Amino acid sequence: MSQFTFKTADAPEPDIAEIGRKLFAGQTEFLKGVVAMDGMPPADRLEVCFAGRSNVGKSSLINAITGRKALARTSNTPGRTQEINFFTLAESHYLVDLPGYGFAEAPLPIVEKWQRLLKAYLSGRQTLRRAFVLIDARHGIKKVDQDILTLLDKSAVIFQVVLTKIDKIKSKDQNAVIAQVSQVLSSHPAAYPEIVLTSSEKGDGIATLRSIIATLE
Ligand code: GTP
Ligand code: MG
Repeated sequence: MSQFTFKTADAPEPDIAEIGRKLFAGQTEFLKGVVAMDGMPPADRLEVCFAGRSNVGKSSLINAITGRKALARTSNTPGRTQEINFFTLAESHYLVDLPGYGFAEAPLPIVEKWQRLLKAYLSGRQTLRRAFVLIDARHGIKKVDQDILTLLDKSAVIFQVVLTKIDKIKSKDQNAVIAQVSQVLSSHPAAYPEIVLTSSEKGDGIATLRSIIATLE
């Protein structure tokens, strides 16, 4: 993959994997769903959020990394997660499940309200250390994803692309999607240079993601 500035994240070394395992062995709880900035919990923990279009697998990924089958609500109905959902992880972290974007059937006023809230959240949260932007491995980065990448650039929030549902593509097709993602990311200054390949269904990339979160400062 050396022709790209962006590479796929390697599986963590055993000692780093252990740090991830330990953090995620801690208790995880749903704290609250928030519809406005004034409902946010105090910014007193290290925080990461999960963004991505509706149905990309945000809630499933949160369930996979926390090892809880139904912590975050998943659904076949796009647009299921409509609030900013805060989960506590151990004593030290918040995991944040963002409402999916690009859900064409949502009425415009609702879409606009989400966008305002998302913007306020991404630009106003001091403790937000990283945004994981989930991209369906079958589709790569689409036009609807670009807006959030630009918003993250403007908000100076480092974001890392997580490819989801890699169990649904053939391994020979992985390089093409990685190439497309790398190409797009090269024009986004806030992009973290490693891409994480995941399957919430099969468990791929889960230990890697845990370690990434556990080693953020
Ligand atoms: P919204 O809350 O609507 O924005 O969706 P979301 O991004 O939270 O997606 P969710 O986790 O609800 O998953 C959507 C659908 O994709 C569900 O039917 C999941 O079972 C499926 N899914 C999620 N991750 C994977 C995966 O890694 N592999 C496969 N095969 N299916 C997945
Ligand atoms: Mg969801």
